[in-house]
Amino acid sequence: MELQLEKKSVVITGGASNIGRSIVLGFAEEKAKITLADTDVSQAEIVASEAIELGAESVTVVECDVTNGKNVDKMFSEVVAHNGTVDVLVNNVGYDELKYFTQTDPEFWRKIIEINFIGVLNCTYSALSIMASQNHGSIVSISSDASRQGEPKEAVYGGMKAGVNSFMKTIAKENGRHGIRCNVVCPGVTIPAEPHAVGGNSMWSDMDSMFTVEQLEKIANSLPLKKIGRPKDVANAVLFLASEAAGHVTGQVLSVSGGYSMIG
Ligand SMILES: NC(=O)c1ccc[n+]([C@@H]2O[C@H](COP(=O)([O-])OP(=O)(O)OC[C@H]3O[C@@H](n4cnc5c(N)ncnc54)[C@H](O)[C@@H]3O)[C@@H](O)[C@H]2O)c1
Repeated sequence: MELQLEKKSVVITGGASNIGRSIVLGFAEEKAKITLADTDVSQAEIVASEAIELGAESVTVVECDVTNGKNVDKMFSEVVAHNGTVDVLVNNVGYDELKYFTQTDPEFWRKIIEINFIGVLNCTYSALSIMASQNHGSIVSISSDASRQGEPKEAVYGGMKAGVNSFMKTIAKENGRHGIRCNVVCPGVTIPAEPHAVGGNSMWSDMDSMFTVEQLEKIANSLPLKKIGRPKDVANAVLFLASEAAGHVTGQVLSVSGGYSMIG
């Protein structure tokens, strides 16, 4: 299969940790020109070194808070200045804390809405203006299986991820005529490959606040494939959807969750 990602200018948000890191390393193996946009610059620099070792054509780390539209515009201007264009955007940033809705408050809701939804709008808006003028591009957003069928303790997060799924379908319909493809990957529970693969800002930096070992075993046993997802599982799907190998695929939502949800 020809991915044809060599020397492509790829922007990955939240690439410093866990799934984003694995996506960065996947594009590095394909020799892409990578821009890693994250709030955690020190962890991003570590991932950038790993990516260079794996064969990335180039890696640029940009400090960027995706919830801040001005930050995002500046980041995309820097990408165009360095790499000439943007061929691929991966909207990977996301965040949640597991709590029942009645244990949350409006301040928490706003944080979850800003990071998981407004961040995707900001980055997609900036990327589309560049991609439309060149008549090609591919956008992949990382959603969650929590968006597909309701997930206790993830009410607002699941709602925002469902918003991402719908948003991406509309963007796919509006921009197909410019040669821009837009797709979504929904991970299920995806645990870090190793402890050093998460940054200090990661929702996994305190693993026990997410899942205990016993809970992870229970989740694995409940899945048709009987195993918990790893970041590389998600990265493989993202690389495919971003690549020319998926040149006739747009507006799709793909679960990578061991069969947790089976929609469509
Ligand atoms: N890991 C899972 O089990 C799982 C399951 C379903 C969906 N997802 C989704 O996959 C994506 C990646 O998850 P992960 O587990 O790798 O997360 P993570 O918390 O390990 O990493 C997130 C990265 O995003 C960065 N970040 C956070 N807020 C930011 C902001 N405002 N601007 C820029 N960077 C910011 C963090 O510094 C960190 O490097 C997210 O969208 C998440 O919602 C994850």
